[in-house]
Amino acid sequence: MTMKVGVLTGGGDCPGLNSVIRAVVRTIHNDGGETLGLLEGWRGAIEGNAIKLTPESTDGIIDRGGTILGSSRTNPYKDESSVGKLLDTFKNLELDALVAIGGDDTLGVASRLYSEHNLPTIGCPKTIDNDLSSTDVTFGFDTSINIVMEAVDRLKTTAESHRRVMVIETMGRHAGWIAWYSGVAVAADYILVPEVEPNLDHLCEVLIQRRQGGKPFGIVVVSEGAALSSVEGLVTQDAEIDEFGHVKLGGVGEQVADIIEKRTGFETRCVTLGHLQRGGPPSASDRVLGTRLGIHAGRLVVKREFGRMVALRGTQIVSVPLAEAVGTMRILDKGILEEFGEFFK
Ligand code: F6P
Repeated sequence: MTMKVGVLTGGGDCPGLNSVIRAVVRTIHNDGGETLGLLEGWRGAIEGNAIKLTPESTDGIIDRGGTILGSSRTNPYKDESSVGKLLDTFKNLELDALVAIGGDDTLGVASRLYSEHNLPTIGCPKTIDNDLSSTDVTFGFDTSINIVMEAVDRLKTTAESHRRVMVIETMGRHAGWIAWYSGVAVAADYILVPEVEPNLDHLCEVLIQRRQGGKPFGIVVVSEGAALSSVEGLVTQDAEIDEFGHVKLGGVGEQVADIIEKRTGFETRCVTLGHLQRGGPPSASDRVLGTRLGIHAGRLVVKREFGRMVALRGTQIVSVPLAEAVGTMRILDKGILEEFGEFFK
């Protein structure tokens, strides 16, 4: 029997989502089935807002950033009546399966819907933050670090002209993947990540040493989640909280820039890259990874192997139980930090 499959994208968007959507649609179509796109994440599933997707309508989307379906941080479990509405949508649209493309929050909902309501869900991991535990890498991350790299390459020339220190604040929430990888790629003088207790004295010493050694500018990459709470008087986050209970991060870069300028005397500027890191076309690598994950998610649907998430392990796409895949954040491991630590002495 052919299938009718829903697909949605939830949480913060990232480059590569459209590659997954296109691949899911194609795989389901090849099996004789059809795909509906639920709009704006779980909100569309609750409100019954969907559009028909075909291989033709999704063929030209691989190079587009964002998601053609729209996204939101709607959490159906915020209010039990929403879960009921979501289950009604599933029945009304006569869906046989649902592919949820998202980060830990979106996949956590997919996991609960499967375990608590036996809803046939499949998960596909995405996030620029690269912080999901059951997959070696998430699509969106590669594009994001390339965006940061290009931005810093530009910032270097103006920093050099003005003999300034540039502090670049990156996204990544409580994992330092974006800051660390992009920082290494631009030969930053210092990188601050949430995984390492900040030592601002050491940071300033390194900048001073390098200036004395003849380098006329400095580059410091700071992850938005860098834990400056141990530095007196600094607050790194405001009180705004989303439906999944996450605080909105941001502002730490400005604070670090301030401290550097005061302690070293070097003129310092901060650039917060913000949502630029999630925008625009995906890298080739993210397009390929998204496509592979989409094909495998579609194949799990066809085989009716529900309650699972597709994942990259080494060079292979595998699947893991959704329940095991959610709830644990993957942070930078010590080995990676130590390797590049050679450059920050
Ligand atoms: O999880 C992706 C991410 O871009 C984080 O790096 C960042 O902290 C957050 O989303 C920003 O969220 P919003 O788009 O809601 O401002």
